[in-house]
Amino acid sequence: MRHRPRGENIISFDSVGLRYGLGPEVLRDVTFALPSGSFHFLTGPSGAGKSSLLRLMYLGLRPTRGRVVLFDRDIATTRRYELPALRRRIGVVFQEFRLLDHLTALDNVALPLRVRGVREAEIRKHVPELLSWVGLADQLGAKPSTLSGGQKQRVAIARAVIGRPDLLLADEPTGNVDDRIAMRLMHLFEELNKLGTTIVVATHNESLVSRFSHNPRLHLEHGQVTRVN
Ligand SMILES: Nc1ncnc2c1ncn2[C@@H]1O[C@H](COP(=O)(O)OP(=O)(O)OP(=O)(O)O)[C@@H](O)[C@H]1O
Ligand SMILES: [Mg+2]
Repeated sequence: MRHRPRGENIISFDSVGLRYGLGPEVLRDVTFALPSGSFHFLTGPSGAGKSSLLRLMYLGLRPTRGRVVLFDRDIATTRRYELPALRRRIGVVFQEFRLLDHLTALDNVALPLRVRGVREAEIRKHVPELLSWVGLADQLGAKPSTLSGGQKQRVAIARAVIGRPDLLLADEPTGNVDDRIAMRLMHLFEELNKLGTTIVVATHNESLVSRFSHNPRLHLEHGQVTRVN
């Protein structure tokens, strides 16, 4: 992880619009900036565009208009071959998990480390530690198809945080777990944030947001940011 001074923006959007194919604009005139080291909630009703906004942030899509600057790079002028290196600095918890079905929980979480060439001895130490922390000590060798929704969600979270990314984007990361585990996961995110990771957690869980009311919020309604604080 590259350390950056707090206060600098890690990502900024300027008048960004997004449409899928020939459909209507699902994001319109979205403008905001996230300072490095911040921890925001991304809220808004179902269909407001939260997952779409996160997709733009992890470069899963390009905007149909406007400007996205990520890690000081204007995405419009960044070459395609440069994108994977930028993406590797981002941890993503997908709303639908996207685990690899043929790999065990341990191997799913180890993947970002193996891609980076981390030594196997380190992997064998850190991955089980993290999986135990999220309550999956007994499931290291389990394939995703044998796990519950909440267990898969925790594997997906462990995979996103294991490499201590510069930016963590989590889409409804507590949507499938009970309150006690949700709090534990939020504390995991807080610890990562203290180590310097900038975090965005998309959620409709108002009780979670109110328990962490000190965290600023980016609120979307009908594809527009109506509040940033
Ligand atoms: N791949 C896609 N192709 C076409 N339209 C899409 C696609 N993904 C999302 N949309 C549309 O974009 C709008 C925003 O969807 P998005 O999934 O970003 O909302 P959301 O805020 O994440 O909702 P939820 O809270 O239910 O997850 C919706 O109208 C949706 O139908
Ligand atoms: Mg969504």
